[in-house]
Amino acid sequence: MVAARITVNGKETPIAPASPHATVLDFLRDRGLTGTKEGCAEGECGACSIMVARPGVNKPTDWVAVNACLVPVASLDGQEVITSEGLATVDETGKPTELHPVQQEMAVRGGSQCGYCTPGFICSMASEYYRPDRCAHEEPADHADPEHGPNGFDLHSLSGNLCRCTGYRPIRDAAYAVGSPEEDDVLAQRRDEAPPAPAETQYTQDDSTFVRPATLAEAAQLLRERPDAQIVAGSTDWGVEVNIRSRRAKYVIAVDRLPELRELRVESDHVLIGAAQTLTEIERRLDGSVPLLAELFPQFASRLIRNSATLGGNLGTGSPIGDSPPVLLALEASLVLADADGEREVPLADYFTGYRQSVRRPGELIRAVRVPLPLSTVTGFHKIAKRRFDDISSVAVAFALDIEDGIVRKARIGLGGVAATPIRALSTEAALEGKPWTRETAEAAARELRGEGTPMSDHRASALYRSAMLGQSLLKLHAETTEAVSS
Ligand code: FES
Ligand code: FES
Repeated sequence: MVAARITVNGKETPIAPASPHATVLDFLRDRGLTGTKEGCAEGECGACSIMVARPGVNKPTDWVAVNACLVPVASLDGQEVITSEGLATVDETGKPTELHPVQQEMAVRGGSQCGYCTPGFICSMASEYYRPDRCAHEEPADHADPEHGPNGFDLHSLSGNLCRCTGYRPIRDAAYAVGSPEEDDVLAQRRDEAPPAPAETQYTQDDSTFVRPATLAEAAQLLRERPDAQIVAGSTDWGVEVNIRSRRAKYVIAVDRLPELRELRVESDHVLIGAAQTLTEIERRLDGSVPLLAELFPQFASRLIRNSATLGGNLGTGSPIGDSPPVLLALEASLVLADADGEREVPLADYFTGYRQSVRRPGELIRAVRVPLPLSTVTGFHKIAKRRFDDISSVAVAFALDIEDGIVRKARIGLGGVAATPIRALSTEAALEGKPWTRETAEAAARELRGEGTPMSDHRASALYRSAMLGQSLLKLHAETTEAVSS
């Protein structure tokens, strides 16, 4: 087996002697690439943003921005990384001769003051600069959509980057001023070639091992032999545990590149989403065809996190305030669980058994999420949080209603943040089904919804507020959808 190594700014570097728990951020900084900064070490500030060559959605390779503070460097064995130092043009001695277009716009538009956040902004911005389907609007920027520039720049690509001193207007100005990559742009050309294949990694240092098996069968066998193993995909949750809570695992199994977990298929009666598809990949590949998911994604953390986070991870942690479970409950999704003996399928409604507990057995992993078709026609996802983006919900509510001739034929409602597990609002569903979709029905069902679950008071919200928001959420859905239904 080839020794673990990583290509940084075009230069191959051995990963040893870094610990299997070392983050890409620490690895880079230990090797003098100190442009990549540490702010929060938990995926909230983007100071550590770098670009990784990953399988592309519209081209063979995408340059994807990720949080280097969360990703174990061992997980990038065999992969290619670009840091802020690798973007400028350099001469044969390695001396920078010309800024990258993104750096140039940030410089001339005053997008940097103290500069601490700037390399992270630059990498997130460069990733969006190289997004193959970014295209300029023919008309000047539409003021009705202030989150996209006239150059097609999606401002959400910077939603995971914080700046404490410049202010965001000059940064947005820079983002909206960048053009398209030139023909001879090396990183643009790199998108036309295949991404690096996942390496079969077996990396051991200091009593800890990081393994990347090649197949699901191998992963399942390893899990059987090592039931204590930590399963890692995007590491957006595990990375926080390592950095903030100093957790360590003797044995880590990476599943994010297993081909069996990377499917995404739309069939006549269901959509199958591989557990290791990142949220960004799902968002771009489904392209709005599952509207409830399309509504969820922009509200799920930040683009930087969505570039690594997976549905399998969000469900596997079993958090009662994960954003995807309410939506998947409303969609009546089921989970395909796999182990060394085979597979079984479990409705998500039967999956959670207690606080961070589920029916998933030792040795099992989530292979895929199945969403049945056809979809309900009236759907909505309301996340109540203190910030519009990149926040943890106080309460999350997802609705999927079938309304025919003004009557609610079927209602499915998923709730997060009101119990020890994500739950279905069964009493409210019963209160809606068979009733006309009128304000009176919505008000009666909203009263029912306020009584669902056992919300508690904590630093995010009081129990009373959480209950009140449940009811308001249904009234909001009614107000938003009545016109569409009656027309
Ligand atoms: Fe803040 Fe990585 S250091 S997101
Ligand atoms: Fe100082 Fe952004 S330039 S934090």
